[in-house]
Amino acid sequence: MNDKPKLTTTAGSPWPNNQDSLSAGERGPLLIQDYQLIEKLAHQNRERIPERTVHAKGWGAHGKLVITEDISQYTLAKCLQKGAETPMIARFSTVAGEAGAADHERDVRGFSLKFYTEDGNWDMVGNNTPVFFVRDPYKFPDFIHTQKRHPKTNMRSPTAMWDFWSLSPEAMHQVTILMSDRGLPQSPMHMNGYGSHTFSFWNEKGERYWVKFHFKTQQGHDFFTNEEAEKVVGKTREGYQERLFNAIEDGKYPRWKFQIQIMPETDAEKTDYNPFDLTKVWPHDEYPPIDVGYFELNRNAENYFAEIENAAFSPSNIVPGISWSPDKMLQARIFSYADAHRHRLGTHYEQIPVNRPKCPVHHYHKDGEMNVYGGIATGNPNAYYEPNSFNGPVEVREAQEPPLRISGDAARYDHRKYDDYKQPRALYADVMDDAERDRLHQNMGGALVGVPTVIVERWFEHLRQVHPDYEAGVRKEWEAASRDAGYDPNGLPITGDTPHEANDQSPQ
Ligand code: NDP
Ligand code: HEM
Repeated sequence: MNDKPKLTTTAGSPWPNNQDSLSAGERGPLLIQDYQLIEKLAHQNRERIPERTVHAKGWGAHGKLVITEDISQYTLAKCLQKGAETPMIARFSTVAGEAGAADHERDVRGFSLKFYTEDGNWDMVGNNTPVFFVRDPYKFPDFIHTQKRHPKTNMRSPTAMWDFWSLSPEAMHQVTILMSDRGLPQSPMHMNGYGSHTFSFWNEKGERYWVKFHFKTQQGHDFFTNEEAEKVVGKTREGYQERLFNAIEDGKYPRWKFQIQIMPETDAEKTDYNPFDLTKVWPHDEYPPIDVGYFELNRNAENYFAEIENAAFSPSNIVPGISWSPDKMLQARIFSYADAHRHRLGTHYEQIPVNRPKCPVHHYHKDGEMNVYGGIATGNPNAYYEPNSFNGPVEVREAQEPPLRISGDAARYDHRKYDDYKQPRALYADVMDDAERDRLHQNMGGALVGVPTVIVERWFEHLRQVHPDYEAGVRKEWEAASRDAGYDPNGLPITGDTPHEANDQSPQ
C-alpha cells in the first residue's frame, strides 16, 4: 500500500479524497470550493481533440528504417546512406470513416511514416495505392465530401461517390484498385505503401533525379472478400489494431522492403504520360524498382493518444537530399497538413514529444499558445531576431536544393484532357488474373446497387473504354446484385420498402 504513488492535484499537492464530493450536509448540495471535482469534470470535457478531417481511424507503432544499399549517386540525404539506421513511427489509416469506424471497410489505406533523421524529420505521407482519385487539388475537398456523410440523411452516399467518379474519369485507375483485392487488406501488415507522388532527390554534384517511393509488404498481400469482412466486423471492429498490436507484442515484427524508381531529371520531358500526374504510375519496365533497404515496426506505443493520435505527418517535412516535385496535388499538400495540425493540435504541435525532431532545433518563431519549451532554442536570450550580433542561429546554405527549371505560361490548364484508360487497362488485362477480375466485377457491381441508372450507365461508358470485358463483367454483377437487393434495372426499389438514399436524389 505504502509503495503506491501519492495522488496529487495537477499542481502536485497531495489529495486526500477522490471518492466523496464536498457537500453542505450529508445530502448535499455541493460546495464550489471543491475545486478538484470541478478540475476533474473540466478535464473530462477536454479529453477529445478534433479528429482528422480525413484518415481519422488509425493504427500505428514505432520502428526503424535500415538502408542496406548504396544510392549515394542519387541523393545526399544522410538517412538514405548505406548502413544508416533511423528511428521512425508509422501510422496507418482508413480515409473516410470517423475515428470509431470499423477497421475492415473497403477503403484506401493511409501509410504515414515519420523518420527522425539527424537532419530533422522526414515525413512520407502516402497510401497503400500508387495513384490517387484526382489530379488537381481543387478537386480534393469535393472528392472527400462524396466520401463523407450526406448533409440531409447523415448517411454515406454511394450516389455521391459514383456521381463524382463517373464525372471524373481520372479516378478510374484508383477506383479499379479500390474495388480490387487490394481495397480490403487483412491488416496494415498485409499491404504495400507508396509515396504515390513523384518526389525528387539531389546528390553531392547538385544533380536532380525524380523518385517514386515504394514500401513492399514482406507479410504478403492477404485480403478479405466483402463477405469475409462483414463476418470479421460482426465480431470485432478493431481487427487491425488487434493484429498489429499483438504481432508486435509477440515479437513478430512486420517488415516492408524499401524500393525506389529513379527518373533522370530531363526524362520528365520525354515520357508519353506526365510523370507528375498522381493518377499515373511509372511502368516498372521503364523505371525498374531499385532496392534501398527495409523498415521494421518493433515497439507499440505506451499511450495511443500521446503517440499515435498526436502524431502530425506532413509532406512539407523533407530533409536535405529529398524534395518535392511540380505535382500539383503534392504542392497543395505541402500547405494543407501543417495548417491542419495547427488547428487540430495547436501552433506548437512540433513540440509534442512524438513530433519533436531528435536533433537540435533552432529557429526564430516566438511565443504563442503552449510554447512550452521557450521562445527560441538558441541558448541566447538576445538572439530573438535575425540578423543579429549575438551569435544567433545562421542559415545552412548547403541545404539549398539545386534550382528547378520551369517553363510555360501561368494559366489554369485543363486537367481533364489526358488519357485515363491506358494504365487501368494494363492493370485489368495484364496484371490481374481471372479470379481477381471476377472479384473486381463483384465488388464494383455490388457497390453500384441503388445508384441511379443514369450515373451507373455513365460509369459503364468509362469501363467500356478501359476494356469491354470490364464493362460486361461489372454490368452482369450489378444487375444480379440489384435484383437480390430488391431494385429494378432502373435503380428503383421494386417493393417500395427498401428506401435508399440514392433514390431521394434526382440527378440531372
Ligand atoms: P508490372 O507488371 O511490372 O507491374 C504490375 C504491378 O502491379 C505489380 O508489380 C504489383 O505492384 C501490382 N499489382 C499486382 N496485382 C495488383 C492488384 N491486384 N492491384 C493493384 N496492383 C497490383 O507492370 P507496370 O509497371 O507496367 O504496371 C502495370 C499496372 O500495374 C499499372 O498500370 C498499375 O495499374 C499497376 N501497378 C503498377 C505499379 C508501378 O509502380 N509500376 C505499382 C502498383 C500497381 P507492387 O509490386 O507494387 O505490388
Ligand atoms: C491526412 C489533406 C491528398 C494521404 C490528411 C489530412 C488533411 C489532408 C488535411 C488530415 C491531417 C491531420 O489532421 O493530421 C489532403 C489534401 C490532399 C490530400 C489537401 C490533396 C490535395 C492525399 C494523398 C495522399 C494522402 C494524395 C496519399 C498519397 C494522407 C494520409 C493522411 C492524410 C496518409 C493521414 C496522416 C496521418 O496518419 O496522420 N490529408 N490530402 N492525402 N492524408 Fe491527405
